[in-house]
Amino acid sequence: MSQRDVSDISRQIVDATGGLRMRRLRQAEWSRRLVRENQLRSSDLIWPIFVKDGDGAEPVASMPGVERRSVAGCVDAARQAADLGIPVIALFPFTDPALRDETGSQALNPDNLVCRTARAIKKAVPEIGIMCDAALDPYTSHGHDGLMDGERILNDESVEVLMRQSVIQAEAGADIIGPSDMMDGRVACIRSALDDAGLRDTMIMAYSAKYASAFYGPFRDAVGSNAMLKGDKRTYQMDFANANEALREAAQDIAEGADMIMVKPGLAYLDILSRITQELNVPAFAYQTSGEYAMIMAAAQNGWLDGDKAILEVLTAYKRAGASGILSYFAPKVAMALREAAG
Ligand code: PBG
Repeated sequence: MSQRDVSDISRQIVDATGGLRMRRLRQAEWSRRLVRENQLRSSDLIWPIFVKDGDGAEPVASMPGVERRSVAGCVDAARQAADLGIPVIALFPFTDPALRDETGSQALNPDNLVCRTARAIKKAVPEIGIMCDAALDPYTSHGHDGLMDGERILNDESVEVLMRQSVIQAEAGADIIGPSDMMDGRVACIRSALDDAGLRDTMIMAYSAKYASAFYGPFRDAVGSNAMLKGDKRTYQMDFANANEALREAAQDIAEGADMIMVKPGLAYLDILSRITQELNVPAFAYQTSGEYAMIMAAAQNGWLDGDKAILEVLTAYKRAGASGILSYFAPKVAMALREAAG
């Protein structure tokens, strides 16, 4: 390479770029902040929490830092979330294995764990939104989201139970029902069941593009359905090779009356989230699943990456892809960090 005067190079750069230097705006924190396109806020977050019977908390081994909490512990978590500006918590029950059966009958017990927790939170922390899944997997002895006939899942029979489960949960205090079961037609049927019960204001956030994914493993440990699960969920959850199908699922759920939709998992499906938010004019959420949580925590605990930085980067990427909000087990940690950063 021949020696050239830097001023020659500068002139050449100006000739080539017309004087535009992209790095100019990156030179200081204030200018980076000034032109920042996406900003994660505590109001973007939904915090999923696990509830169990009895006192005290127990750790979820595959999700370091996450615990199954008592009902009272969930009330404390709800209060913490409200203080941090987190708008919604999502409740997931660990059902005593002795109470699980073929039909998931505990799902229809108005005094089941999740209903008791929702009632307790509504009473103590009325300002926070409560979300509950419509699905049978925490309650069935086979670990599937609906009723089974041998190896076959029964779509319409399952929908009938999900309608009743949704009404029971809404009556207990759930503000948002999240059908996570992926049965066909369930959003329309749940909407009409809620309306018929006078629960016209209960919202539906449909798990619309829910893929059959390896990234749910730790969640199934947390709710105790992993060891029980017979087979897999590929006859109802989506094939991860498909994108157009996700658009059809989401459009269908909107047509059936979903107020909000969800893409799940998030990180490996940002293309889906981006297409859905661009093509469908509806609030769209993404679920940073248990497996995504576990991946970041495992690497961080080994010192292989900076966990705090990775969390912020990934959650901001969800926003960049168009998410209205994100379900994340990191929610309180992130909300605290955002509060500190704001001073
Ligand atoms: C239940 C449900 C699952 C998750 C949320 N609701 C698991 C599954 O479908 O098997 C996964 C959440 C996570 O992995 O964090 N239908």
